Amino acid sequence: MALRHIALLIAGLHVLICKTWAKVEVSVEDRVEVSLNSHAEIPCMYISREPAMMIVWSTKLPGRDQTRRRIYYFDDQNEIIDEGSDYTGRISVKHSHNKSTEQGNIILTIDKVRLSDEREFICTVHNVSKEHGEGRTRLQVFNSPSFPEIEGTYSGISVDAEGPSKIADCKVENGYPRPNITWYKDRFPLQNSDGVVKIMDSVTKNPSGLFTVESELSIKVVREDEDAQFYCEVNFFFPEGVKMTESNRVNITVHYPTTEVTLSINPDNPFLKEGDTVEIRCKGNGNPHPLFSFRHKEELLESENDVLILENLKRSDSGTYECLSYDVNTFIEVNGSISIQVHYLDPIVVTPEEMVVDQGGDITLTCNALSSLSVLAAWYKDGMQVGDRHVLHLHNASYDTAGIYMCELTVISIPELQKQKSVQIHVRGKPDITEGIAVGPVNKVDRTVNLTCYAQGYPTPNISWDLSDQRTGQSVPIPVAEDHETTTGVLSMISVKATSELIANCSASNEFGTISVSRNIEAFARGTTTTTKAPSTKGITVPPKKQQKGGSGVAIAIIIICLLLLAILCSVLYFLYKKGRLPCGRSGKQDFMKETASKDDIVMEMKSGKSEEAVLLQGVNGDKKTPTE
Ligand SMILES: *[C@@H]1O[C@H](CO)[C@@H](O)[C@H](O)[C@H]1NC(C)=O
Ligand SMILES: *[C@@H]1O[C@H](CO)[C@@H](O)[C@H](O)[C@H]1NC(C)=O
Ligand SMILES: *[C@@H]1O[C@H](CO)[C@@H](O)[C@H](O)[C@H]1NC(C)=O
Ligand SMILES: *[C@@H]1O[C@H](CO)[C@@H](O)[C@H](O)[C@H]1NC(C)=O
Ligand SMILES: *[C@@H]1O[C@H](CO)[C@@H](O)[C@H](O)[C@H]1NC(C)=O
Repeated sequence: MALRHIALLIAGLHVLICKTWAKVEVSVEDRVEVSLNSHAEIPCMYISREPAMMIVWSTKLPGRDQTRRRIYYFDDQNEIIDEGSDYTGRISVKHSHNKSTEQGNIILTIDKVRLSDEREFICTVHNVSKEHGEGRTRLQVFNSPSFPEIEGTYSGISVDAEGPSKIADCKVENGYPRPNITWYKDRFPLQNSDGVVKIMDSVTKNPSGLFTVESELSIKVVREDEDAQFYCEVNFFFPEGVKMTESNRVNITVHYPTTEVTLSINPDNPFLKEGDTVEIRCKGNGNPHPLFSFRHKEELLESENDVLILENLKRSDSGTYECLSYDVNTFIEVNGSISIQVHYLDPIVVTPEEMVVDQGGDITLTCNALSSLSVLAAWYKDGMQVGDRHVLHLHNASYDTAGIYMCELTVISIPELQKQKSVQIHVRGKPDITEGIAVGPVNKVDRTVNLTCYAQGYPTPNISWDLSDQRTGQSVPIPVAEDHETTTGVLSMISVKATSELIANCSASNEFGTISVSRNIEAFARGTTTTTKAPSTKGITVPPKKQQKGGSGVAIAIIIICLLLLAILCSVLYFLYKKGRLPCGRSGKQDFMKETASKDDIVMEMKSGKSEEAVLLQGVNGDKKTPTE
């Protein structure tokens, strides 16, 4: 032990003495770092009053072989780049010396650096006094690896798999020195961990000396990993330090069993009605989706796997729908259910069905329909609402009570669910003619007027007409009547040629009695204006027409102008007569249009004549039409 210590001490002293003797002070850098294929410059400086006498560059490979190989030699006569070495033709040396600073500068340049250049370069400098010194520099070569390529597992990975499952491969090529691969899951680095994470790296050294590193990541997959992003990070040395690159991200498909199914309804409307269409969707919490089937009242239904479409719903479709899922991988069966109710409104039933009531009598109508929800009732007659309950009481029936009653039922929660039913109510009794005989306008072509008579009553009355001449009292043949039954009575119409003044008598009868009304019908000369003269009792008054008034006004104005012209003419004639030139004759009689008007009836008669005035009047009126229309 002691002996060995002493030996080491002596060796150390020897080195110290040698250094002291080696007068040339040489300084170099410990390490020079350079990229593959670039060029390297290895500096070597010395202190000496005179330029170096001899410079030698040699290399020493790492490892056990400690022999030096000279690659360059220089003395005052020669500069030799040794033949047959790795550096022949690849190196050059620059040498300079500064006398004032007593400093020499040598730079060894190596072109197209190779991996094999990673070794020690020794610079040896001799001075004129044959003293020498040396410095050693390690050359380190780097190469950036390729961008990392990642390939994920595309097939689904089951959470039930035993142990870690392969997630992805990562590969990085041609790095030097050997790059490292680190795996990440959502920014968290992964490390080997028993049964949970397994990372297997494989390193290949290419013939060129560069490294290709491949890494395989396996993990024990959990459900949440379906959202995770995996990537690999590559770390490698570079002349400026450590560099890092990240691969693309990959996702994985995670398979896990369905343990629960949920059902949903579209549209999600609590008030479904008959005729609607709904979709029942079944969703499982597993991946991939299992096979689904639907059951209703113990019966399997046809479905498009996860969607059951129910069209044209019926009330019998109400109830519970069950969804069953079957996982083909795990053979697990799960089920869930949902209930639906289909609402309905049946056709309306109105009671009583016999709808005849005596005048003054009472009637109670009820309107009902079977429904799954509460309904709102409304009664309408002639477009007006007459009731808002299921029951409608009608008291002291009159002919106004008769008619069509419509009952409308609406489901309160589903207003679209609405039905209607109409019933006709007849009020039994003696006929009634409230409006009398109505006289229509005169037909310009054949001078006819339409007489109408409306009788209420039930059973529907028979209407008979009677026409007689006012003056002679003789009966006139009765044209065929047109009868129209209405909901409450009958409307009868005859078309009369009023060539003379008539009395029209309309009588309505049924088993309860008879009622009749009559009316005077004015008539006028053939081919002249005809105006109907309404009776003062129960009749429709033909209102005076404005055109008539307009025509009379113009006529009066013209008459006044004519009279004025006549007066002037007379004065002129009188003047001439006074002078004795002319005998003054009598002017002719003038017939003017007679016009009578009273409150109730207007009669306008224009006698046909050939007087100038009549012609003039027609001309002013612009046509030969009768002013009464
Ligand atoms: C690669 O990993 C090794 C071992 O953990 C480490 O010594 C080396 O520095 C790493 N290289 C890089 C470039 O980080
Ligand atoms: C029934 O109606 C008639 C007229 O329509 C009326 O004169 C009579 O007073 C009413 N009777 C009752 C009891 O209301
Ligand atoms: C009278 O009634 C008939 C039949 O409805 C109709 O064709 C005719 O136009 C009516 N006459 C007048 C003047 O309204
Ligand atoms: C009404 O007329 C029809 C035939 O025109 C007849 O059969 C019926 O008996 C009449 N009814 C009454 C109440 O006069
Ligand atoms: C209508 O004629 C019937 C007989 O045809 C008669 O009994 C009745 O009195 C007449 N009515 C009127 C208002 O003239």
